[in-house]
Amino acid sequence: MKKLLVCGAILAAFFVVGSGVSFASDKGPAEITLESTIDTAKKPKPATFPHAEHQSRLACGDCHHGKDADGKKIDYVEGQEIGKCESCHNKAAGMPKKVASYKDAAHALCKDCHKQQDAKLAKCNVCHK
Ligand code: HEC
Ligand code: HEC
Ligand code: HEC
Ligand code: HEC
Repeated sequence: MKKLLVCGAILAAFFVVGSGVSFASDKGPAEITLESTIDTAKKPKPATFPHAEHQSRLACGDCHHGKDADGKKIDYVEGQEIGKCESCHNKAAGMPKKVASYKDAAHALCKDCHKQQDAKLAKCNVCHK
């Protein structure tokens, strides 16, 4: 996996040099199993996430963002390093209540959008198989 990622990054770097246009070099895995490792529930509930399928409909910055030195959110810029959600959204970090843990942040992003689309998409077992 690591090798594949490295190859991808090298290929992408080539492309950037070759064309003079800059692309996000790493789109991440097509399918991801999301699971808390910091504020874990007693009964773990991994979530399945078709990343590539969402990328086909949404912009990277609809989900990814960064943090400045004052702890304020900064908008995604193409090619930025993408950190794990829970590296910022964990209870020890003192984030606002709605996004205080990985679970809260994920539900605020994923579940809220699903709910707006269709109540059926917000059912627990859509993500927690
Ligand atoms: C749209 C997707 C989605 C839906 C719908 C959803 N969740 Fe989640 N949930 C997540 C994600 C993503 C996480 C964070 C990663 C993980 O599973 O640990 C999470 C985390 C959790 C956690 C913490 C899990 C852990 O192992 O620490 C619990 C508990 C949870 N959800 C319960 C629910 C319940 C109950 C429902 C239905 C009322 C629900 N979720 C609906 C995506 C979803
Ligand atoms: C619907 C939300 C969503 C969209 C849109 C999205 N991503 Fe992601 N992406 C995620 C989530 C959630 C993860 C898993 C983060 C984690 O493990 O904490 C992730 C993980 C990644 C990772 C792996 C990070 C790591 O080291 O684990 C990369 C790279 C990435 N995304 C790049 C992109 C790029 C580039 C785009 C746009 C083309 C994009 N993503 C669009 C939600 C999204
Ligand atoms: C580098 C740190 C960092 C990472 C990584 C990060 N966030 Fe955030 N996030 C923040 C900050 C800072 C805020 C703003 C909190 C506030 O309102 O004070 C925020 C806000 C949010 C919000 C509230 C809505 C908004 O746009 O303000 C949601 C939802 C959210 N993050 C979900 C996620 C998810 C899901 C991931 C992983 C794909 C993620 N975040 C990764 C730092 C981060
Ligand atoms: C901005 C809106 C939006 C966000 C954010 C979003 N989703 Fe989705 N997601 C959708 C829509 C719309 C579909 C249905 C696509 C279709 O019709 O097949 C979907 C489909 C899915 C499916 C497949 C459902 C099925 O069985 O067909 C899963 C699983 C899923 N999302 C998980 C997640 C997780 C986990 C996150 C957060 C990391 C997330 N989604 C964030 C809009 C969103």
